[in-house]
Amino acid sequence: MFKTVRGMRDLLPKSAQKMRHIERVARDVSKLYGYEEIITPVLESYELLAAKTSEEIRDRMYKFEDLGGRKVAMRPEFTASVARLVVNKLKNEPKPMRLFSTGSLYRYDEPQYGRFREFWQANYELFGSTRPEADAEILMLTNNVLKNLGLKNYRFKVGHSGILLGILTQEGLDDQQQNSVRQLLDKKEWNEALTVAKKVGVSKNGLEVLTSILEMMGEDPWEDLVQIKKRVQDYSTAVEAVNNLQKIVKLVQDSGEQLELQVEAGFARGLEYYTGMIFETYVPGLDIAIGGGGRYDKLIELFGGEPIPAVGVAQGIDRIVLALTKQKAAPKTPKQKTAAVIAIKPICMGKALEISAMLRKKGVFVELAVMGRSIRSALSDANRREVDYAVILGPKELKENMVVLKNMKKEEQRTVSIDSLVQEILAASS
Ligand code: HAM
Repeated sequence: MFKTVRGMRDLLPKSAQKMRHIERVARDVSKLYGYEEIITPVLESYELLAAKTSEEIRDRMYKFEDLGGRKVAMRPEFTASVARLVVNKLKNEPKPMRLFSTGSLYRYDEPQYGRFREFWQANYELFGSTRPEADAEILMLTNNVLKNLGLKNYRFKVGHSGILLGILTQEGLDDQQQNSVRQLLDKKEWNEALTVAKKVGVSKNGLEVLTSILEMMGEDPWEDLVQIKKRVQDYSTAVEAVNNLQKIVKLVQDSGEQLELQVEAGFARGLEYYTGMIFETYVPGLDIAIGGGGRYDKLIELFGGEPIPAVGVAQGIDRIVLALTKQKAAPKTPKQKTAAVIAIKPICMGKALEISAMLRKKGVFVELAVMGRSIRSALSDANRREVDYAVILGPKELKENMVVLKNMKKEEQRTVSIDSLVQEILAASS
């Protein structure tokens, strides 16, 4: 018997429904904010995907040579593909440009709770603006997605990659040395990060500043930013980064939306392309991020385009399912009326198909009885499937243009005319 490949999952109807619901809400929010959907391929050139990702992702990509000898990989995220598309085909489009994508991604992570080798994201990228309102928009739309899904008590961990960059660059570290410190900070291995920083030549003052900002864990984002600015005052680029983050936080606070923001100056996201504000979202009881994003102003240039600033976010659909399950938050979908259409005799089947089509046209979800069962067992099957109504077609009733309509929950049935059937089903409270 064949099994799924390790780390790959089949999603059964209930799980698939939850995933698609989140995708739908995410897409609705993309429209509310003016993001246009694009579809990019799952398979991309390895060089593109590896260019500015993280050491971890680079090592865990599904990569292989295709039959034409090209080195390809399955996308571990959307951002590189969207940036490639912008450079190739959209660079002259008027700015801002807002693009939405959703689909599956692949990382050879060790399978565990919330960490899958195939997972789904809803991804938003905003190109063309360096202004703090663009960063604020990405935070606000993330809030909008999570709120519309009915999630509660989620928080935003916010930082700015310019803080560490400012300190480490002024301390004379090159890109590679900075990345090795950043990767350790991303994994919260703070002592190891400080040890590496010391080893590659960070000064005593630099180490003290790093230690003091890593330890900070305040309640009030505004107060924290004031404190952080004091501590990094010797590093001018880091001060600029804090100023920028202050503008973003102020805009979000001025919007009147109550986002729970927690500033962490030592926060580093693994991905190497970030140049500005970075953030991740969390819910209580789940210590893995349900989404993350940030500003990346240099990626388009790196891919060979004119410089275009950008900021974006990916919501992790699989982890949002886990968060919703944890919070027992039921999807807020409008209840559709459902019906089973059952022909008692084969001679009634043509009419059953016709009536099914008529009901579907009016938005009723119809399951046609196709197993040739007796009326009793067809009804018990309809009961098991939890449909609202059974529409039973017998030759006698059909002669008078009538059918039997059974309300499955109330266990009441009566004969109604075919002409009024739609009306009867849609008007009744099932
Ligand atoms: P990321 O932090 O690597 O960022 O992933 C974003 C989200 O995808 C994570 O917060 C998590 O919810 C979900 N995710 C990542 N890996 C897995 C996994 N193995 N299993 C389940 N869920 C996972 C990015 O991908 C960036 N491209 C986000 C971005 C867009 N930045 C700017 N624009």
